[in-house]
Amino acid sequence: MEIEVREVLDGRREDDPVWALIDELGQGDWVRFTAGFHLSSHLLAAYSPDTRLMGFCRYIVQPIGPDTGCPPITVQGQEVHEAKILAFGVPERWRRRGVGTALQRAVIAAAGRQGCHQVRSHSSGDNVENHQLKLRLGFAVHPIVRDGDDRGCYFILPLPRRG
Ligand SMILES: CC(C)(COP(=O)(O)OP(=O)(O)OC[C@H]1O[C@@H](n2cnc3c(N)ncnc32)[C@H](O)[C@@H]1OP(=O)(O)O)[C@@H](O)C(=O)NCCC(=O)NCCS
Repeated sequence: MEIEVREVLDGRREDDPVWALIDELGQGDWVRFTAGFHLSSHLLAAYSPDTRLMGFCRYIVQPIGPDTGCPPITVQGQEVHEAKILAFGVPERWRRRGVGTALQRAVIAAAGRQGCHQVRSHSSGDNVENHQLKLRLGFAVHPIVRDGDDRGCYFILPLPRRG
């Protein structure tokens, strides 16, 4: 199926129809979350050829390190940035048709254009479908115990170096 992914131009405007879907999937807190070290925030939405909304993904660009309480990673004195996916969802009626994969690929492409070193996310232990999707896309996996959840993982995809 043809899937168009585009950025919701002002992701903070909650009158955009994507917000009803974000709330339906219970991910509002992760789309609204902001932190001082975020450099930019991006909300992507996926549409069918007849413009039906099929899913969303929110990522932020940030220096690598501060969100885990660590100092920024640098290369030759320059901070290295990453795209971190904070929210990601496809409603059940549209699953297993490649929508989630199209959204992830759009983030990977945009992160490359934005000069990021990697794409990263954390996924809790009950999000097994997301784990499968990330592994299939070639993300490296780092299991971690967080808030008593010992099946959660970080997923990291290094991006090709520019120059
Ligand atoms: C994770 C999610 C976004 C995937 O969306 P999707 O559009 O169904 O994903 P795709 O169709 O692109 O799936 C790609 C591949 O991922 C894997 N996958 C997806 N869902 C799966 C499932 N339920 N069981 C096993 N593998 C699964 C498969 O390898 C699949 O390829 P295939 O259909 O050819 O076998 C969707 O399941 C979802 O919204 N889940 C609930 C919210 C969530 O977990 N969000 C992530 C928060 S961290």
